[in-house]
Amino acid sequence: MQLDDLYRRVIMDHYKNPRNRGKFEDGTVTIDLNNPTCGDRISLQLKVEDGIVKDAKYTGEGCSISMSSASMMTEAIKGRNLQEAEELASRFSSLMKGEAVEFEEYEDIEALSGVNKFPARIKCATLAWNALRKGIEGTEEKS
Ligand code: FES
Ligand code: FES
Repeated sequence: MQLDDLYRRVIMDHYKNPRNRGKFEDGTVTIDLNNPTCGDRISLQLKVEDGIVKDAKYTGEGCSISMSSASMMTEAIKGRNLQEAEELASRFSSLMKGEAVEFEEYEDIEALSGVNKFPARIKCATLAWNALRKGIEGTEEKS
């Protein structure tokens, strides 16, 4: 698929130097999700305190798009409250629909905008964000 060089570089950087890859012992919610089209999976952990995402980590196996998206997503949501995290997830959906959205908070995410022309790849890029949404729901149910 065609992504321009800058975008490709950002994606590969997150794939090769993943941010927040790993696990913690004291996460408040864990979400395991897979992409049914390919079987790739992500396990996302959030540490939410007083409605704030204090930390986020993930493990999993997947393509460069899915894993780099997880790396970016976890960077973007740290320190945000659940409502802001949810709002970022909505904005990411808009990005995948081809809308021009900006992520001032963490502009690396915009590198994934080129993916919107490839339906299979949208699923890759959205996996981590779907896990986040489930994590937010799970957290809200508990509180
Ligand atoms: Fe590898 Fe498009 S074919 S990301
Ligand atoms: Fe499986 Fe991208 S090919 S998540």
